[in-house]
Amino acid sequence: MDLPGELIEQADELRRRLHRHPELAFQEHQTARVLEEFLAGHGVEIAGRGLAGTGLVALVRGAAAGPCVALRADMDALPIREETGLEWASARDGVMHACGHDGHMALVATTAAWLARHRGELPGTVKFIFQPGEEKGNGARLLVEQGVLDAPPVAAIFAVHARPQLAAGQLQLCRVPSAATNPFTIEILGRGGHGAYPHLAVDPIAIGAQVVVALQQVVARQLPPGQPAVVTVGAFSAGEMGNVIPERARLRGTIRTRHPEVRRQAGEAVRRIAAGVAAALGGECRVEIEEGTPRVRNDDELLDLVEAVARPLLGDDNVLRQEAVTMGGEDFSFYLSEQGGVPGCLLWLGVETDEPIHTSRFDFGSTALAPGIRLLGELAYQALQKPPGRAEP
Ligand code: NI
Repeated sequence: MDLPGELIEQADELRRRLHRHPELAFQEHQTARVLEEFLAGHGVEIAGRGLAGTGLVALVRGAAAGPCVALRADMDALPIREETGLEWASARDGVMHACGHDGHMALVATTAAWLARHRGELPGTVKFIFQPGEEKGNGARLLVEQGVLDAPPVAAIFAVHARPQLAAGQLQLCRVPSAATNPFTIEILGRGGHGAYPHLAVDPIAIGAQVVVALQQVVARQLPPGQPAVVTVGAFSAGEMGNVIPERARLRGTIRTRHPEVRRQAGEAVRRIAAGVAAALGGECRVEIEEGTPRVRNDDELLDLVEAVARPLLGDDNVLRQEAVTMGGEDFSFYLSEQGGVPGCLLWLGVETDEPIHTSRFDFGSTALAPGIRLLGELAYQALQKPPGRAEP
């Protein structure tokens, strides 16, 4: 299959259009319309609309019956004011595609357009999933609950994510490309009083400060040293006045881990330490650890397939089979076997910029589009021929 230059140009146009009109999580209405128009214009069947509000599912059914392989793109932008100064910079003040989701959508939609031209050669069906709300961490879960992996049942799923640390068009293959996240809130309950008479009060600020310090022990002293983990307190709110001891304080933070057992231990340690410190100082606390997003655990067999497909397409120097110890989260995990879903892989793709994602200067650019589309198209085609778990004995 040759990728026509005209499709690469259309991918670039689509990418810029999406970049110019970013929408926040679960508000991607215009984005969905733009995608639908593009897909329909290329004869791609729209199989589902409005999933979790704005999600879109498209299908390319091959001439021959066979399995179904899915490609996923996330749709949402971030509440960041763009400072790239580019011609296609965000027209929506304070909202920006700063995580490359514009590029992911253009890659997957153009791959659909390309494969639609080759449906006669496809031994099965390719499903294209455009998913809202990745940045909120639950768009994928909602889509899975709504049956996005069924009818036709998906045998394997792939996604790419921009990684500015790589050269444009480079691919990095990891077993665990993203960490588990657990947002938490610790509510410290003291007893309010006059700042002049602390002995008559229970000071939740003093307790909260000790809790923050003690939580540094979780990674340093409670978890196995070989396993990366992070406990960050990002918000501490309490009090109004300098001479009043408030009733309560609230800490909010995030736990990041890369192994399910370490995830369990870290959550347990946060609870125990917060409760113990608060009790020792005469207060009480309520710890709420949210479910968050599980780690992404890529399928080993599919990683081998991706590597075999990518090497001749991108060149040996552009395919890195090495672990990156990333502590970021990705809700792609909800599609995968470890969460009761299907085998799959999240792949890191180098983009044009080396500005970090989630910053006001990030732009996916155009140089990674052609290699990304070639990779996804070829990967879908090859995965249909060798679906996971059906290897010859
Ligand atoms: Ni992202």
